[in-house]
Amino acid sequence: MPKPEVAINFAELLNNENTRKIFAQVGPKVCQVTARHPGFIGFQNHFQTGIIPLGARYGGGSMDMTEMDTVNVYQYTFWKKIEDHEDMHRENFTSIFRLCSACLSQVVYGPWEPVYEIRNADIPLNTELTDFTAMFGRKFAAGDPSGVPPISMPYGKRTIAMSEHTVKAGMEKEFESGIEEVMKDFVHVPGYLGYMVLKQKGVSALGSFQLKAKGTHEVLESNGEVPVHQEGAFKYPEAKPIPPEYVVHMEWASPQDAMFGIGRVLFSHSAREIHGRVLDTLIRGPYIRLLNPMMEGTTWREYLNSP
Ligand SMILES: [Fe+2]
Repeated sequence: MPKPEVAINFAELLNNENTRKIFAQVGPKVCQVTARHPGFIGFQNHFQTGIIPLGARYGGGSMDMTEMDTVNVYQYTFWKKIEDHEDMHRENFTSIFRLCSACLSQVVYGPWEPVYEIRNADIPLNTELTDFTAMFGRKFAAGDPSGVPPISMPYGKRTIAMSEHTVKAGMEKEFESGIEEVMKDFVHVPGYLGYMVLKQKGVSALGSFQLKAKGTHEVLESNGEVPVHQEGAFKYPEAKPIPPEYVVHMEWASPQDAMFGIGRVLFSHSAREIHGRVLDTLIRGPYIRLLNPMMEGTTWREYLNSP
């Protein structure tokens, strides 16, 4: 199974009609420019809708936080290698800057674009209900009816639980094997669709518009014109975090399925024992955001599931 690498572009934006209008207009154009590069293999763009409050540890948060003044956007792009992502930003800086500078009036924080390797994953292809019989027929004809995956609905009809963790340096192996066991246990839970464990390899300077001083001043001194000095301030591995940062990306049928499913690590004794070993590897976390995948180019799932 080939494993793509992932860039997650994060921004906090004003939560209003203008943001949604610009997102719908500019987002697809940026994706088209991105697809100029042969190393680009798909995308999944999300709006955050809330968090899982974890008892009352984050009691000020809730599963529906869509009435807040700002909204967080997480734009995943998938690449054969992170170097492809870096080349794409360098080669297409002018086009991307022109498109993105139209959005700057909406930005409260960001963009900030960490890059990740997939340490392990079990993510199904997306299947609309209308595709079910064809998919089932193919599995049946191949003599593998029990290999029929869960119905992972596309385009905003499912929920992502994105869970942040900082792990003690030297305990990565224990963390990763423990998480894998927790995810295997979730296979029995209604509404569970799949997961990826992402380990941060650094940050993309150009994806974060973090330019060297000359370029930064040019940007600030103009009304969104493309700067002549386009060099990024650092190379992505220079931003590799110590201690290591992980994102556990889970896919669920609905926010309720995510909450009650993940809750299993608190109220099922055996799941709690497994998860307890993961907790003991942590410096920070888990903090679980709920995301709605609004725009998808699902080709990365085919790549991930290819032999
Ligand atoms: Fe990017």
